[in-house]
Amino acid sequence: MLKPRGGSVRPTHPGVRFLGVLLLAACAPPPLPSHGAPGQPLPGLPPDLLARFDAGRALFDIEVGEAAGLGPTFNQRRCSSCHDVPTLGGGGVEPILKSTRWVDGRCDPLVHQGGDNIQTRATAALQAAGGRGETRPDDATHTTDLTAPALYGLGVVEAIPESAILAGADPDDADHDGISGRVGRTSDGALARFGRKATHATLRSFIEEALLQEMGLTTPAHPRELTINGTPPPPEADPAPDPEYGPAQIDLLEDYVRLLALPGPGEPGPERAASVERGRDVFEAVGCTGCHTPHFTTSDSAPPPLQRREVALYSDLLLHDLGPGWAGICSDSAAPTEVRTAPLAGLRHRPILSLDGRSPTLEDVIARHGGEAAASIRAYDALGSDARNALLSFLRSL
Ligand code: HEC
Ligand code: HEC
Repeated sequence: MLKPRGGSVRPTHPGVRFLGVLLLAACAPPPLPSHGAPGQPLPGLPPDLLARFDAGRALFDIEVGEAAGLGPTFNQRRCSSCHDVPTLGGGGVEPILKSTRWVDGRCDPLVHQGGDNIQTRATAALQAAGGRGETRPDDATHTTDLTAPALYGLGVVEAIPESAILAGADPDDADHDGISGRVGRTSDGALARFGRKATHATLRSFIEEALLQEMGLTTPAHPRELTINGTPPPPEADPAPDPEYGPAQIDLLEDYVRLLALPGPGEPGPERAASVERGRDVFEAVGCTGCHTPHFTTSDSAPPPLQRREVALYSDLLLHDLGPGWAGICSDSAAPTEVRTAPLAGLRHRPILSLDGRSPTLEDVIARHGGEAAASIRAYDALGSDARNALLSFLRSL
Protein backbone atom coordinates (compact mmCIF):
# COMPACT_ATOMS: atom_id res chain seq x y z
CA MET A 1 0.00 0.00 0.00
CA LEU A 2 1.06 3.55 -0.68
CA LYS A 3 1.62 5.68 2.37
CA PRO A 4 0.41 9.29 2.12
CA ARG A 5 3.31 11.64 1.51
CA GLY A 6 4.36 13.68 4.55
CA GLY A 7 3.41 17.36 4.22
CA SER A 8 4.11 20.38 6.39
CA VAL A 9 0.49 20.66 7.59
CA ARG A 10 -0.33 18.01 10.20
CA PRO A 11 -3.62 19.03 11.80
CA THR A 12 -5.00 16.70 14.45
CA HIS A 13 -8.59 17.86 15.03
CA PRO A 14 -10.85 16.13 12.45
CA GLY A 15 -12.46 19.44 11.45
CA VAL A 16 -9.07 21.06 10.91
CA ARG A 17 -7.92 17.99 9.02
CA PHE A 18 -10.94 18.26 6.72
CA LEU A 19 -10.16 21.93 6.12
CA GLY A 20 -6.54 20.98 5.45
CA VAL A 21 -7.61 18.43 2.85
CA LEU A 22 -9.83 21.02 1.19
CA LEU A 23 -7.02 23.56 1.13
CA LEU A 24 -4.53 21.02 -0.24
CA ALA A 25 -7.03 19.95 -2.87
CA ALA A 26 -7.54 23.59 -3.82
CA CYS A 27 -3.79 24.37 -4.01
CA ALA A 28 -2.25 21.23 -5.52
CA PRO A 29 -3.18 20.79 -9.16
CA PRO A 30 -4.31 17.23 -9.98
CA PRO A 31 -1.59 15.04 -11.47
CA LEU A 32 -1.25 15.21 -15.26
CA PRO A 33 -2.11 12.14 -17.31
CA SER A 34 0.64 9.94 -18.79
CA HIS A 35 -1.58 8.13 -21.24
CA GLY A 36 -1.22 7.97 -24.98
CA ALA A 37 -1.60 5.43 -27.77
CA PRO A 38 1.27 2.90 -28.03
CA GLY A 39 4.36 4.55 -29.47
CA GLN A 40 3.13 8.12 -28.93
CA PRO A 41 4.91 10.70 -26.76
CA LEU A 42 3.55 11.76 -23.36
CA PRO A 43 0.68 14.22 -23.69
CA GLY A 44 1.44 17.93 -23.35
CA LEU A 45 5.12 18.02 -24.34
CA PRO A 46 6.59 21.29 -25.67
CA PRO A 47 7.84 21.40 -29.30
CA ASP A 48 11.55 21.15 -28.39
CA LEU A 49 10.97 17.88 -26.54
CA LEU A 50 8.77 16.52 -29.32
CA ALA A 51 11.67 17.18 -31.70
CA ARG A 52 14.03 15.27 -29.36
CA PHE A 53 11.52 12.44 -29.19
CA ASP A 54 11.37 12.21 -33.01
CA ALA A 55 15.16 12.31 -33.36
CA GLY A 56 15.55 9.66 -30.66
CA ARG A 57 12.97 7.45 -32.32
CA ALA A 58 14.88 7.66 -35.61
CA LEU A 59 18.10 6.58 -33.87
CA PHE A 60 16.24 3.75 -32.11
CA ASP A 61 15.20 2.48 -35.56
CA ILE A 62 18.51 2.95 -37.37
CA GLU A 63 20.35 -0.09 -38.65
CA VAL A 64 23.91 -0.03 -37.29
CA GLY A 65 26.58 -1.40 -39.61
CA GLU A 66 30.00 -2.79 -38.81
CA ALA A 67 31.73 0.48 -39.73
CA ALA A 68 29.65 2.26 -37.07
CA GLY A 69 30.61 -0.31 -34.44
CA LEU A 70 28.21 -3.26 -34.66
CA GLY A 71 29.60 -6.43 -33.04
CA PRO A 72 31.96 -8.27 -33.26
CA THR A 73 29.27 -10.40 -31.59
CA PHE A 74 25.69 -9.15 -31.38
CA ASN A 75 22.04 -10.19 -31.40
CA GLN A 76 20.41 -7.54 -33.59
CA ARG A 77 21.38 -4.50 -35.66
CA ARG A 78 18.83 -2.06 -34.23
CA CYS A 79 16.89 -1.46 -31.02
CA SER A 80 13.63 -1.68 -32.92
CA SER A 81 14.36 -5.25 -34.05
CA CYS A 82 13.28 -6.38 -30.59
CA HIS A 83 11.07 -3.47 -29.54
CA ASP A 84 8.54 -3.01 -32.34
CA VAL A 85 5.21 -4.66 -31.43
CA PRO A 86 2.65 -3.13 -31.84
CA THR A 87 4.74 0.01 -32.66
CA LEU A 88 8.32 1.22 -32.28
CA GLY A 89 9.15 1.26 -28.58
CA GLY A 90 6.94 -1.79 -27.99
CA GLY A 91 7.84 -5.33 -27.05
CA GLY A 92 9.14 -8.19 -29.14
CA VAL A 93 8.43 -11.79 -29.91
CA GLU A 94 11.95 -13.01 -30.57
CA PRO A 95 13.64 -13.80 -27.27
CA ILE A 96 17.25 -13.34 -26.30
CA LEU A 97 19.10 -16.14 -24.60
CA LYS A 98 20.35 -15.62 -21.05
CA SER A 99 22.24 -18.10 -18.87
CA THR A 100 23.37 -17.91 -15.26
CA ARG A 101 24.68 -20.15 -12.54
CA TRP A 102 22.88 -20.32 -9.17
CA VAL A 103 24.98 -21.91 -6.49
CA ASP A 104 24.97 -21.65 -2.66
CA GLY A 105 22.30 -18.96 -2.78
CA ARG A 106 24.38 -16.70 -5.02
CA CYS A 107 24.08 -15.70 -8.64
CA ASP A 108 27.08 -16.06 -10.92
CA PRO A 109 26.66 -14.29 -14.28
CA LEU A 110 29.54 -16.40 -15.65
CA VAL A 111 31.65 -13.48 -16.79
CA HIS A 112 34.65 -15.77 -17.42
CA GLN A 113 32.52 -17.70 -19.95
CA GLY A 114 31.19 -14.60 -21.71
CA GLY A 115 28.56 -13.28 -19.29
CA ASP A 116 24.85 -13.96 -18.84
CA ASN A 117 23.71 -12.39 -22.11
CA ILE A 118 24.56 -14.63 -25.04
CA GLN A 119 25.38 -12.86 -28.32
CA THR A 120 24.58 -15.50 -30.89
CA ARG A 121 25.65 -13.71 -34.08
CA ALA A 122 29.04 -12.70 -35.49
CA THR A 123 29.87 -9.84 -37.90
CA ALA A 124 31.44 -10.60 -41.30
CA ALA A 125 34.80 -9.29 -39.99
CA LEU A 126 34.68 -11.69 -37.03
CA GLN A 127 33.71 -14.61 -39.27
CA ALA A 128 36.59 -13.72 -41.62
CA ALA A 129 38.92 -13.89 -38.60
CA GLY A 130 37.59 -17.38 -37.84
CA GLY A 131 35.26 -16.31 -35.01
CA ARG A 132 31.63 -17.23 -34.35
CA GLY A 133 28.74 -16.14 -32.15
CA GLU A 134 28.53 -17.25 -28.54
CA THR A 135 27.12 -20.48 -27.21
CA ARG A 136 25.53 -21.27 -23.85
CA PRO A 137 28.19 -21.21 -21.08
CA ASP A 138 29.07 -24.72 -19.91
CA ASP A 139 28.64 -23.94 -16.20
CA ALA A 140 25.14 -22.45 -16.46
CA THR A 141 22.47 -23.93 -14.20
CA HIS A 142 19.58 -21.99 -15.78
CA THR A 143 18.86 -20.69 -19.27
CA THR A 144 15.91 -18.46 -20.11
CA ASP A 145 14.53 -17.29 -23.42
CA LEU A 146 13.94 -13.73 -22.26
CA THR A 147 11.32 -11.75 -24.17
CA ALA A 148 11.58 -8.00 -24.70
CA PRO A 149 9.00 -5.90 -22.81
CA ALA A 150 7.40 -2.76 -24.20
CA LEU A 151 9.22 0.44 -23.23
CA TYR A 152 6.03 2.52 -23.03
CA GLY A 153 5.82 4.80 -20.00
CA LEU A 154 9.29 4.01 -18.65
CA GLY A 155 10.13 7.72 -18.15
CA VAL A 156 7.24 8.18 -15.74
CA VAL A 157 8.22 4.90 -14.08
CA GLU A 158 11.69 6.35 -13.53
CA ALA A 159 10.10 9.47 -12.00
CA ILE A 160 8.15 7.55 -9.31
CA PRO A 161 9.65 8.53 -5.93
CA GLU A 162 11.77 5.83 -4.31
CA SER A 163 9.84 6.36 -1.08
CA ALA A 164 6.61 5.26 -2.80
CA ILE A 165 8.21 2.02 -4.04
CA LEU A 166 9.82 1.34 -0.66
CA ALA A 167 6.46 1.89 1.04
CA GLY A 168 5.12 -1.21 -0.74
CA ALA A 169 8.02 -3.48 0.25
CA ASP A 170 7.52 -5.96 3.07
CA PRO A 171 10.60 -8.19 2.85
CA ASP A 172 9.86 -10.14 6.04
CA ASP A 173 6.10 -10.30 5.44
CA ALA A 174 5.43 -8.36 8.64
CA ASP A 175 1.72 -8.12 7.82
CA HIS A 176 1.47 -11.93 7.35
CA ASP A 177 -0.47 -11.73 4.08
CA GLY A 178 1.92 -14.19 2.41
CA ILE A 179 3.27 -11.49 0.08
CA SER A 180 6.70 -10.11 0.90
CA GLY A 181 8.05 -8.03 -1.98
CA ARG A 182 11.66 -6.85 -1.96
CA VAL A 183 13.30 -4.01 -3.79
CA GLY A 184 16.04 -5.07 -6.15
CA ARG A 185 19.42 -3.38 -5.67
CA THR A 186 22.29 -2.83 -8.08
CA SER A 187 25.80 -3.83 -6.99
CA ASP A 188 26.35 -0.26 -5.72
CA GLY A 189 23.16 -0.32 -3.66
CA ALA A 190 20.82 1.77 -5.84
CA LEU A 191 17.13 0.81 -6.06
CA ALA A 192 16.80 -1.27 -9.24
CA ARG A 193 13.32 -0.68 -10.65
CA PHE A 194 14.10 -1.68 -14.24
CA GLY A 195 14.62 -5.11 -15.77
CA ARG A 196 12.51 -8.23 -15.40
CA LYS A 197 14.89 -9.41 -12.68
CA ALA A 198 15.31 -5.89 -11.14
CA THR A 199 18.79 -5.25 -12.47
CA HIS A 200 19.02 -1.53 -13.27
CA ALA A 201 18.38 1.71 -11.38
CA THR A 202 18.18 4.05 -14.37
CA LEU A 203 17.02 3.97 -17.96
CA ARG A 204 20.38 5.31 -19.04
CA SER A 205 22.27 2.41 -17.51
CA PHE A 206 19.83 -0.04 -19.12
CA ILE A 207 20.21 1.60 -22.52
CA GLU A 208 24.02 1.61 -22.32
CA GLU A 209 23.96 -2.05 -21.45
CA ALA A 210 21.51 -2.82 -24.28
CA LEU A 211 23.83 -1.08 -26.74
CA LEU A 212 26.73 -3.27 -25.64
CA GLN A 213 24.93 -6.55 -25.01
CA GLU A 214 22.49 -6.62 -27.94
CA MET A 215 24.39 -4.70 -30.61
CA GLY A 216 28.05 -4.77 -29.55
CA LEU A 217 28.27 -0.96 -29.32
CA THR A 218 30.77 0.38 -26.77
CA THR A 219 29.96 3.56 -24.78
CA PRO A 220 31.88 5.70 -22.25
CA ALA A 221 30.39 3.55 -19.45
CA HIS A 222 31.34 0.31 -21.25
CA PRO A 223 34.40 1.18 -23.35
CA ARG A 224 35.54 -2.39 -24.07
CA GLU A 225 34.03 -5.02 -26.34
CA LEU A 226 32.59 -8.12 -24.71
CA THR A 227 34.50 -11.35 -24.81
CA ILE A 228 33.32 -14.27 -26.90
CA ASN A 229 32.58 -16.95 -24.32
CA GLY A 230 35.48 -15.53 -22.31
CA THR A 231 38.00 -14.94 -25.13
CA PRO A 232 38.66 -11.34 -26.27
CA PRO A 233 37.75 -10.83 -29.96
CA PRO A 234 40.66 -10.54 -32.43
CA PRO A 235 41.49 -6.82 -33.01
CA GLU A 236 40.92 -7.11 -36.78
CA ALA A 237 37.29 -8.08 -36.05
CA ASP A 238 36.66 -4.74 -34.33
CA PRO A 239 37.75 -1.88 -36.64
CA ALA A 240 35.61 0.96 -35.18
CA PRO A 241 37.34 3.10 -32.50
CA ASP A 242 35.87 2.87 -28.96
CA PRO A 243 33.61 4.24 -27.60
CA GLU A 244 31.43 3.60 -30.64
CA TYR A 245 28.45 5.56 -29.26
CA GLY A 246 28.98 8.83 -27.36
CA PRO A 247 26.87 10.90 -24.94
CA ALA A 248 24.92 12.70 -27.70
CA GLN A 249 23.56 9.43 -29.09
CA ILE A 250 22.85 7.95 -25.66
CA ASP A 251 21.05 11.20 -24.63
CA LEU A 252 18.78 10.94 -27.67
CA LEU A 253 17.88 7.30 -27.06
CA GLU A 254 17.27 8.10 -23.40
CA ASP A 255 14.98 11.04 -24.21
CA TYR A 256 12.99 8.92 -26.66
CA VAL A 257 12.42 6.11 -24.16
CA ARG A 258 11.72 8.56 -21.31
CA LEU A 259 9.09 10.46 -23.23
CA LEU A 260 7.07 7.46 -24.46
CA ALA A 261 3.49 7.60 -23.15
CA LEU A 262 2.01 4.84 -21.01
CA PRO A 263 -0.85 3.15 -22.89
CA GLY A 264 -4.19 4.00 -21.30
CA PRO A 265 -7.11 1.64 -20.81
CA GLY A 266 -9.29 0.91 -23.84
CA GLU A 267 -12.90 1.99 -24.29
CA PRO A 268 -14.83 -1.22 -23.57
CA GLY A 269 -18.11 -0.02 -25.15
CA PRO A 270 -21.43 0.17 -23.28
CA GLU A 271 -22.17 -3.57 -23.32
CA ARG A 272 -18.85 -4.51 -21.64
CA ALA A 273 -18.33 -1.46 -19.40
CA ALA A 274 -20.19 -2.96 -16.43
CA SER A 275 -18.20 -6.20 -16.67
CA VAL A 276 -14.89 -4.30 -16.80
CA GLU A 277 -15.91 -2.26 -13.74
CA ARG A 278 -16.88 -5.42 -11.88
CA GLY A 279 -13.61 -7.06 -12.95
CA ARG A 280 -11.64 -4.18 -11.46
CA ASP A 281 -13.31 -4.89 -8.10
CA VAL A 282 -12.63 -8.64 -8.42
CA PHE A 283 -8.98 -7.88 -9.25
CA GLU A 284 -8.70 -6.09 -5.93
CA ALA A 285 -10.86 -8.52 -3.95
CA VAL A 286 -8.79 -11.61 -4.86
CA GLY A 287 -5.57 -9.80 -3.98
CA CYS A 288 -4.00 -9.17 -7.40
CA THR A 289 -3.35 -5.59 -6.23
CA GLY A 290 -1.07 -7.04 -3.52
CA CYS A 291 1.62 -6.90 -6.24
CA HIS A 292 -0.02 -5.22 -9.24
CA THR A 293 -0.26 -1.76 -7.57
CA PRO A 294 -2.78 0.22 -9.62
CA HIS A 295 -1.42 3.77 -9.16
CA PHE A 296 1.61 5.88 -8.51
CA THR A 297 2.20 9.62 -8.94
CA THR A 298 5.58 10.84 -10.18
CA SER A 299 7.77 12.98 -7.95
CA ASP A 300 7.40 16.76 -7.68
CA SER A 301 11.15 16.97 -8.11
CA ALA A 302 11.31 14.90 -11.33
CA PRO A 303 12.39 16.73 -14.51
CA PRO A 304 9.55 19.13 -15.47
CA PRO A 305 7.96 17.12 -18.30
CA LEU A 306 7.67 14.11 -15.99
CA GLN A 307 6.62 15.91 -12.78
CA ARG A 308 3.37 15.03 -10.98
CA ARG A 309 2.13 12.62 -13.61
CA GLU A 310 -0.36 9.90 -12.85
CA VAL A 311 1.08 6.41 -13.46
CA ALA A 312 -1.64 3.73 -13.70
CA LEU A 313 1.01 1.01 -13.83
CA TYR A 314 -0.41 -2.09 -12.08
CA SER A 315 3.01 -3.04 -10.70
CA ASP A 316 4.74 -2.41 -7.37
CA LEU A 317 8.14 -2.66 -9.14
CA LEU A 318 9.21 -5.18 -6.48
CA LEU A 319 10.61 -8.69 -6.67
CA HIS A 320 8.37 -11.59 -5.68
CA ASP A 321 9.00 -15.30 -5.42
CA LEU A 322 6.47 -16.85 -7.81
CA GLY A 323 7.44 -20.46 -7.11
CA PRO A 324 9.00 -23.25 -9.20
CA GLY A 325 6.83 -22.57 -12.27
CA TRP A 326 8.95 -19.50 -12.92
CA ALA A 327 12.40 -20.94 -12.23
CA GLY A 328 14.93 -19.44 -14.63
CA ILE A 329 17.94 -17.14 -14.68
CA CYS A 330 19.02 -15.26 -11.55
CA SER A 331 20.47 -11.75 -11.17
CA ASP A 332 22.40 -9.82 -8.49
CA SER A 333 19.01 -9.02 -6.95
CA ALA A 334 16.85 -11.99 -7.79
CA ALA A 335 16.93 -15.74 -7.17
CA PRO A 336 15.82 -18.05 -10.02
CA THR A 337 12.15 -17.99 -8.93
CA GLU A 338 12.00 -14.25 -8.16
CA VAL A 339 10.59 -11.88 -10.76
CA ARG A 340 9.78 -8.17 -10.71
CA THR A 341 6.02 -7.63 -10.97
CA ALA A 342 5.16 -7.12 -14.64
CA PRO A 343 3.22 -3.86 -15.16
CA LEU A 344 -0.21 -4.63 -16.58
CA ALA A 345 -0.70 -1.19 -18.19
CA GLY A 346 -0.86 -1.82 -21.94
CA LEU A 347 -1.52 -5.54 -21.44
CA ARG A 348 -3.97 -5.71 -24.37
CA HIS A 349 -1.23 -4.64 -26.79
CA ARG A 350 1.19 -7.43 -25.77
CA PRO A 351 2.01 -10.08 -28.35
CA ILE A 352 3.42 -12.46 -25.76
CA LEU A 353 3.00 -12.97 -22.02
CA SER A 354 5.48 -13.63 -19.19
CA LEU A 355 9.21 -13.02 -19.19
CA ASP A 356 10.00 -16.28 -20.99
CA GLY A 357 6.93 -16.31 -23.26
CA ARG A 358 5.88 -19.69 -21.88
CA SER A 359 2.31 -18.67 -20.98
CA PRO A 360 0.26 -18.45 -24.18
CA THR A 361 -2.99 -17.04 -22.68
CA LEU A 362 -4.10 -14.82 -19.80
CA GLU A 363 -5.62 -17.85 -18.08
CA ASP A 364 -2.28 -19.69 -18.39
CA VAL A 365 -0.23 -16.86 -16.97
CA ILE A 366 -2.62 -16.42 -14.02
CA ALA A 367 -2.68 -20.16 -13.25
CA ARG A 368 1.11 -20.25 -13.37
CA HIS A 369 1.44 -17.76 -10.46
CA GLY A 370 2.54 -19.64 -7.33
CA GLY A 371 4.77 -18.85 -4.34
CA GLU A 372 3.81 -15.49 -2.85
CA ALA A 373 0.78 -15.30 -5.17
CA ALA A 374 -0.64 -18.65 -3.97
CA ALA A 375 -3.43 -17.19 -1.78
CA SER A 376 -4.51 -14.81 -4.52
CA ILE A 377 -4.65 -17.63 -7.07
CA ARG A 378 -6.66 -19.80 -4.67
CA ALA A 379 -9.17 -16.94 -4.40
CA TYR A 380 -9.18 -16.65 -8.20
CA ASP A 381 -9.78 -20.40 -8.58
CA ALA A 382 -12.74 -20.16 -6.20
CA LEU A 383 -14.47 -17.48 -8.32
CA GLY A 384 -17.68 -18.25 -10.14
CA SER A 385 -17.59 -18.00 -13.93
CA ASP A 386 -19.21 -14.54 -14.02
CA ALA A 387 -16.65 -13.03 -11.67
CA ARG A 388 -13.82 -14.74 -13.51
CA ASN A 389 -15.05 -13.47 -16.87
CA ALA A 390 -15.37 -9.98 -15.42
CA LEU A 391 -11.77 -10.16 -14.20
CA LEU A 392 -10.59 -11.25 -17.66
CA SER A 393 -12.62 -8.43 -19.29
CA PHE A 394 -10.92 -5.97 -16.97
CA LEU A 395 -7.46 -7.35 -17.83
CA ARG A 396 -8.26 -7.21 -21.55
CA SER A 397 -9.25 -3.56 -21.17
CA LEU A 398 -5.78 -2.58 -19.88
C1 HEC B 1 18.02 -8.60 -29.30
C2 HEC B 1 16.85 -8.00 -28.73
C3 HEC B 1 16.97 -6.62 -28.10
C4 HEC B 1 17.54 -5.49 -28.64
C5 HEC B 1 18.26 -5.33 -29.97
C6 HEC B 1 17.30 -4.44 -27.69
N1 HEC B 1 16.61 -4.91 -26.61
FE1 HEC B 1 15.91 -3.81 -25.04
N2 HEC B 1 15.32 -5.51 -24.13
C7 HEC B 1 15.39 -6.78 -24.66
C8 HEC B 1 15.03 -7.75 -23.65
C9 HEC B 1 14.98 -9.24 -23.81
C10 HEC B 1 14.74 -7.00 -22.48
C11 HEC B 1 14.38 -7.56 -21.10
C12 HEC B 1 15.67 -7.64 -20.33
C13 HEC B 1 15.50 -7.67 -18.85
O1 HEC B 1 14.44 -7.29 -18.37
O2 HEC B 1 16.46 -8.05 -18.16
C14 HEC B 1 14.93 -5.60 -22.82
C15 HEC B 1 14.70 -4.55 -21.94
C16 HEC B 1 14.92 -3.21 -22.23
C17 HEC B 1 14.69 -2.11 -21.30
C18 HEC B 1 14.18 -2.23 -19.87
C19 HEC B 1 12.69 -2.41 -19.81
C20 HEC B 1 12.10 -2.49 -18.43
O3 HEC B 1 10.86 -2.54 -18.36
O4 HEC B 1 12.79 -2.52 -17.42
C21 HEC B 1 15.06 -0.97 -21.95
C22 HEC B 1 15.02 0.45 -21.42
C23 HEC B 1 15.52 -1.34 -23.28
N3 HEC B 1 15.41 -2.71 -23.42
C24 HEC B 1 15.97 -0.46 -24.24
C25 HEC B 1 16.60 -0.85 -25.41
C26 HEC B 1 17.31 0.06 -26.31
C27 HEC B 1 17.41 1.56 -26.14
C28 HEC B 1 17.83 -0.71 -27.30
C29 HEC B 1 18.79 -0.29 -28.40
C30 HEC B 1 20.05 0.27 -27.92
C31 HEC B 1 17.44 -2.09 -27.04
N4 HEC B 1 16.70 -2.13 -25.89
C32 HEC B 1 17.76 -3.16 -27.86
C33 HEC B 1 15.75 -7.11 -25.94
C34 HEC B 1 16.40 -6.24 -26.81
C1 HEC C 1 2.83 -12.10 -5.26
C2 HEC C 1 2.73 -11.10 -6.29
C3 HEC C 1 1.67 -11.26 -7.35
C4 HEC C 1 0.31 -11.45 -7.19
C5 HEC C 1 -0.47 -11.55 -5.91
C6 HEC C 1 -0.22 -11.48 -8.53
N1 HEC C 1 0.76 -11.32 -9.47
FE1 HEC C 1 0.52 -11.26 -11.47
N2 HEC C 1 2.55 -11.18 -11.70
C7 HEC C 1 3.46 -11.09 -10.69
C8 HEC C 1 4.79 -11.10 -11.24
C9 HEC C 1 6.08 -11.03 -10.45
C10 HEC C 1 4.64 -11.18 -12.63
C11 HEC C 1 5.75 -11.20 -13.68
C12 HEC C 1 5.98 -12.56 -14.27
C13 HEC C 1 6.84 -12.49 -15.50
O1 HEC C 1 7.45 -11.44 -15.78
O2 HEC C 1 6.94 -13.50 -16.20
C14 HEC C 1 3.23 -11.22 -12.89
C15 HEC C 1 2.65 -11.32 -14.16
C16 HEC C 1 1.30 -11.24 -14.42
C17 HEC C 1 0.71 -11.21 -15.75
C18 HEC C 1 1.49 -11.28 -17.05
C19 HEC C 1 1.89 -9.94 -17.57
C20 HEC C 1 2.82 -10.03 -18.76
O3 HEC C 1 2.93 -9.06 -19.48
O4 HEC C 1 3.45 -11.05 -18.97
C21 HEC C 1 -0.64 -11.13 -15.58
C22 HEC C 1 -1.69 -11.04 -16.69
C23 HEC C 1 -0.90 -11.13 -14.16
N3 HEC C 1 0.30 -11.19 -13.48
C24 HEC C 1 -2.16 -11.09 -13.59
C25 HEC C 1 -2.40 -11.30 -12.24
C26 HEC C 1 -3.72 -11.49 -11.68
C27 HEC C 1 -5.01 -11.45 -12.48
C28 HEC C 1 -3.56 -11.66 -10.35
C29 HEC C 1 -4.61 -11.96 -9.31
C30 HEC C 1 -5.41 -13.15 -9.55
C31 HEC C 1 -2.13 -11.59 -10.07
N4 HEC C 1 -1.47 -11.37 -11.25
C32 HEC C 1 -1.57 -11.69 -8.81
C33 HEC C 1 3.19 -11.00 -9.36
C34 HEC C 1 1.93 -11.18 -8.78
